[in-house]
Amino acid sequence: MKVLIVDDEKNIRELMGTYLKLDAIESEGAENGLSAQRLLRENHYDACLVDLKMPGMDGLSLIKWIRNEGFRMPVIMISAHGEIHDAVAALTSGAQDYIVKPFDPEELSIRLVKLIESQNLQNLVESDQRTQTGTGKLIGESRPIQKIKKIINKIAETPATVLITGESGTGKEVAARQIHAVSLLCEGPFVAINIGGVPENLIESELFGYEKGAFTGAESRKIGMFELASGGTLFLDEIGDMSLSLQVKLLRVLQEKKITHLGGTTTIPINARIITATNKSLETMIREGSFREDLFYRLNVVRIEIPTLRDRKEDIPLLAGSIIARLNRQMGSSNRIEGVTPEGIQYLKEYSFPGNIRELENVLERAAIFAEQSMLSEDDFELRGIVLHEQNVLPGKPTDLDQNNTEPKTLKKIEEEAMIQALHRWEGNRTKAAGELGISRRTLINKIAEYGLNI
Ligand SMILES: Nc1ncnc2c1ncn2[C@@H]1O[C@H](COP(=O)(O)OP(=O)(O)OP(=O)(O)O)[C@@H](O)[C@H]1O
Ligand SMILES: [Mg+2]
Repeated sequence: MKVLIVDDEKNIRELMGTYLKLDAIESEGAENGLSAQRLLRENHYDACLVDLKMPGMDGLSLIKWIRNEGFRMPVIMISAHGEIHDAVAALTSGAQDYIVKPFDPEELSIRLVKLIESQNLQNLVESDQRTQTGTGKLIGESRPIQKIKKIINKIAETPATVLITGESGTGKEVAARQIHAVSLLCEGPFVAINIGGVPENLIESELFGYEKGAFTGAESRKIGMFELASGGTLFLDEIGDMSLSLQVKLLRVLQEKKITHLGGTTTIPINARIITATNKSLETMIREGSFREDLFYRLNVVRIEIPTLRDRKEDIPLLAGSIIARLNRQMGSSNRIEGVTPEGIQYLKEYSFPGNIRELENVLERAAIFAEQSMLSEDDFELRGIVLHEQNVLPGKPTDLDQNNTEPKTLKKIEEEAMIQALHRWEGNRTKAAGELGISRRTLINKIAEYGLNI
């Protein structure tokens, strides 16, 4: 935690600095508004203490400037007795709190920490709203998940850059949040941005921030996400969707550990841990020329590959339990679900879950809404992909999605198998098979031709 103390009296600056140090709060001093402005532009501070009466630019004008420039850190006004009117003015112009000299040092620290924490929380909430996701814990006891938890604990104390890969819905974001939660930076903000979800031209200004007037529409200064995440974690989701030109800029930030605002000249040091995630194969993208190899090596310092749900079926009971507990909380007492019958669990384990944990959540949620009994069973689950349930397995037909087969399977192969099975189930009736697969009859016929199927 680092604080800027702006006061023209040297002994006040030093006294405050010494007191704050006792509570492990770092500080720097500025003797007037101008040098405060310079320091604020060049460094990151978690909060600002501003004296009201100073020669030259007074405290009130400095606070207005801070807010005008778009700095978001909390500001505490320092005022002397009898200046209560000014203190009120300070609060309306953007200070969060004020203290009166002579101050109680302990109270100062307490108020500061509280303000900083609530600001961090606000950043967190905002980033949550941005990505619209919750904060699950990484649940699972399977071997691959145990391995991942070990890696996460190992890197907790280092700020190493992490690349998380895995199919859609496997829990990449959950893992990123878990890394943040156990790390030394957990007190800092977790800021997330979905590169794929933000229009290309906006990503750059979101990430780097900009100065007032940097482009049409830049009406005030804006802090970028690299700075917002200072002292915490910046999570860049869907990194495979980043354009080549932005990849160059990201590479530069990782190399130099500093940024400049768009339209700005001062450099701002960056100290957030960077976590990226993708469900694309960056290695393939490198071969195709759509992802920079040098950037890949910077991002891939620590690699976490989240397994698919079909590769960790033993976690299904645990995951189902935690999802059902959450559903119960959301649905209230009207439709309490106790769990899943053993046969139901077995049935889920035989399913391929192309949508991974997100699909498990959907399946359970739908089941919970329509269930007649408090224990969910096989009949409550509507599964859309391939179920390798005994009676569905046709003799002599390809069914090798079973657990003993560790061969990696391509999406094409899975698709082909799904079509063969659906066609067999409906004795070659294209319309019905297409209906079951959730595709149009036309698409199915095209795909039958494409795969050269003879059914
Ligand atoms: N280990 C886990 N324990 C509990 N819930 C999980 C776990 N992993 C994932 N989930 C839940 O599954 C859903 C998908 O997780 P998440 O959004 O992290 O996946 P993702 O890999 O980022 O997916 P996408 O590639 O589609 O963005 C979320 O609702 C999350 O809460
Ligand atoms: Mg995600």
